[in-house]
Parts: sequence; structure tokens; C-alpha cells
Amino acid sequence: AVDISALRSSTGLITLDDGYANTGSCSSAITFIDGENGILRYRGVPIEDLAVNSSFIETAELLIFGELPDEEERAEFRSLLTENSALHQDMGKHFDGFPTNAHPMSILSAMISALQSHDLPEHQFTDANGFREAAASLIAKTRTIAAASYKSHVGQPIIYPRYDLNYAENFLHMMFSVPYRDYEATPEEAHALNMFLVLHADHEQNCSTSTVRMVASSGANLYASVSAGVNALWGPLHGGANMQVIEMLERIRQGAMTTRDYVARVKDRKSGAKLMGFGHRVYRNFDPRARILKDAADRLLDAMHVTDPLLDIARELEQVALADDYFVSRRLYPNVDFYSGIILRAIGIPVDMFTVMFAIGRTPGWIAHWKEVTDNPRQRIYRPRQVYTGPELSPWVPRDER
Ligand code: ACO
Repeated sequence: AVDISALRSSTGLITLDDGYANTGSCSSAITFIDGENGILRYRGVPIEDLAVNSSFIETAELLIFGELPDEEERAEFRSLLTENSALHQDMGKHFDGFPTNAHPMSILSAMISALQSHDLPEHQFTDANGFREAAASLIAKTRTIAAASYKSHVGQPIIYPRYDLNYAENFLHMMFSVPYRDYEATPEEAHALNMFLVLHADHEQNCSTSTVRMVASSGANLYASVSAGVNALWGPLHGGANMQVIEMLERIRQGAMTTRDYVARVKDRKSGAKLMGFGHRVYRNFDPRARILKDAADRLLDAMHVTDPLLDIARELEQVALADDYFVSRRLYPNVDFYSGIILRAIGIPVDMFTVMFAIGRTPGWIAHWKEVTDNPRQRIYRPRQVYTGPELSPWVPRDER
């Protein structure tokens, strides 16, 4: 508990809102969420329509430039992506500096920072053409870096992008092709990955996007701001949850634990266990992305003629939790991470790459928010206040007296 008198600082009254549960940090025209009714729209377009009809790249253009592109704009942005998809030769050397067990998120954030030195000079980011090119470069190269870090992890040569494939197909090609044997993704795999990326493309003021906006508010460049977003996404309460969901489902399977046993463990607060992939700060009835992904996981496994015992466990876990007063009274429902891992597993993405996949998807959103901050002539630097709870005045004790 905080002594309310402490809220009165020397410069006036401060509102204290732990975790910003009810504090708006900005106004934004990018993404709309109605958490009570499970509504999510990018620039006004319902997520359900985008998930089925839209390519990831046109969704990126919608978020970043404000409108769905016409044919000419699509073609122009596509060629910018193509021209910018290969890494500078020198960037390849950075991969050698990481230990083979380096976490792909640490590689991704470091490489995005390094990319700034190889891409456009910083002053060009803010003119319209320079920004377009930097945005295309980041979207294209995030994918290239992710696939290249996987290749260096498994000790295979880096595979370069092909110019005739769409974004999702190209990623799978760079992940799974080996010299002299090109990997051709099936239409079902490419469609499922495209949908995964569209559903992750933006989500207003979540932890990583707020981080991007905060860093951008100091005037930091696009790459520095996005790299900070990658690091914020890494945490298990945010993007890292998609890995943790699969690890949780695996533990249930391997430990021969029933879903009821696991839910009982979660409810026993002393265990520290959470039902990963459940709960959301804003969605209080359902997360529309989770619904779409649950159906998509079913359809993908059917089309691939495979079964995944983890999908059965996930479905059962959801049923058990949603019939339990602990979850019902706290309004905890599956979030985007609950079913997304089943899809990624089905298309062969290793679990330790899952959060990187989220980062690839979220990159357009981060770019759109960086631009919104940077374009705002009245933008002030983000600088929250605090309630100080330390000692009022402490003497400096000489070293030999401590
Ligand atoms: N399992 C068990 N209990 C939970 C869970 C969960 N997944 N989520 C919330 N609760 C409990 C809390 O312990 C708290 O209980 P209490 O009131 O008895 O103390 C109550 O529900 C309210 O939860 P908060 O912690 O206030 O929720 P908050 O909005 O701060 O956190 C979050 C949201 C981080 C998503 C949380 O629900 C969580 O940790 N979920 C699991 C991790 C996860 O799936 N993260 C991905 C989120 S979506 C995304 O970033 C893409």
C-alpha cells in the first residue's frame, strides 16, 4: 500500500496506476480494441476479414500507411521488399559471433540494431521515400535474420530469399531449404503462416509497442526503437508466452498429468504456475485472435492429415478452465498464444523460434507506431512519474566505516 500523501510531489498531484491498467499513454489511429466484446480492427478493418482475405504485406501497408494499398502501391511495396530482402554481406559475419545455443530473440534484437549501420543513413528515415524503404527493409530483413539465425543454429548454410515467392512462402523456403534441395511450402502451410502473421501484426498499446513508442519519443531511430520492442516482447508474460504454452502442454503430456491436475496446480497459488496462453489485460470475454487460430489449427492439421496430441490437451485444458470458477470469476480466456504454437509446430517451426515468429508478425505494428510518434509535431518525450518509497535522507558513509 502506498501512503497517499506521497502522491503529492513537490510539483503537484501524481496519479499512480500500477502496470498502467487504466491509463492512456497516447492517442492513436492505428488499432481499435473493444475488450468487452472481443473486437479487434486495424485502421477500422475487422481482424476476421483480414485474417481470411489479406496478405501479411498488404496488412502491413494498411497499418503503416493507413489504407489498404491499390494494385500499384502493392506492386511498388513488393518490389521494395524484394530489393531489400537480402542481408548485407557483412551482416552475415555477425552470426558467427553468437554461441550456437544463443536465444533467437537475442540474435534478432542485436541484428536489428546492427542493421541500422548497414541500411539507410539515419537522416533519411523521416522523408517519405526513405521511411518507405526503411519500413520495407525492416519487414523483409526481420524474416531473413530469423531464418538465418536458425540456419546458423543448426549448422547449415544460410539460404537466400527467392524473388518469386510471397512473404510467408519465402520464410519457409529460407528456413527449410538446403543446398540443392528447395523447400516448397504447401498452400495450406503458407496460408496458415500468413494468417498467423496477420493476427500478430498489431495490438495497440501492448508492452512491446509501448516500448517502441517510448524509445521513439526520445527521437531514437526506427531500428533502435524496433530492437527495443523485440526485447520487450521476449518476456514470458508477453510474446514469450507462445513458447511457454507448448512447454506447458508437453509437461502435461510427458508427466502423465491430467488437465485437471494442472488446473489445480495453477489454482494453488503457492505453485507459482500459471495457465500460459490464458488471460489478457484488455479482453475480458474472449480474444478474437484465439478463436480464429483455434479453427485454423483444426483446419491445418486436417489438411495435413496429421494429429497433434498437444491440440487435444489444449482443447481439454480450455474446457476444464472455462468450467472453473477461478478462471470464470477472473474473466480469464485463451489469448492469441494459446493455439498459435500448434500451428507453428505443424509447419515445422522449432519451439525456441516461436517468439521470433511473433516478432516478425509484430514488426509492421511497431513501425506504424514509430511513425505515428515521429510524425506528431506535438509529441513530448515519454517520461512517467513515480512515487518515491526510499529513505528520505541518508548520510554518505566513508568506505572504512561501512
Ligand atoms: N493463470 C492463472 N491465473 C491468472 C492468469 C493465468 N494465466 N492470468 C491472470 N491470472 C490471475 C492473476 O493471478 C490475478 O489473480 P488475483 O486477482 O487473485 O491476484 C487475476 O487473474 C488478474 O490477473 P492480472 O495479473 O491482474 O492480469 P494482468 O492484466 O496484469 O496480466 C497477463 C495479463 C500478463 C496476460 C496475465 O493474464 C498472464 O500472466 N497470462 C499468462 C501469460 C500469457 O499468456 N501472456 C500472453 C498475453 S497476450 C500477449 O502478450 C500476446
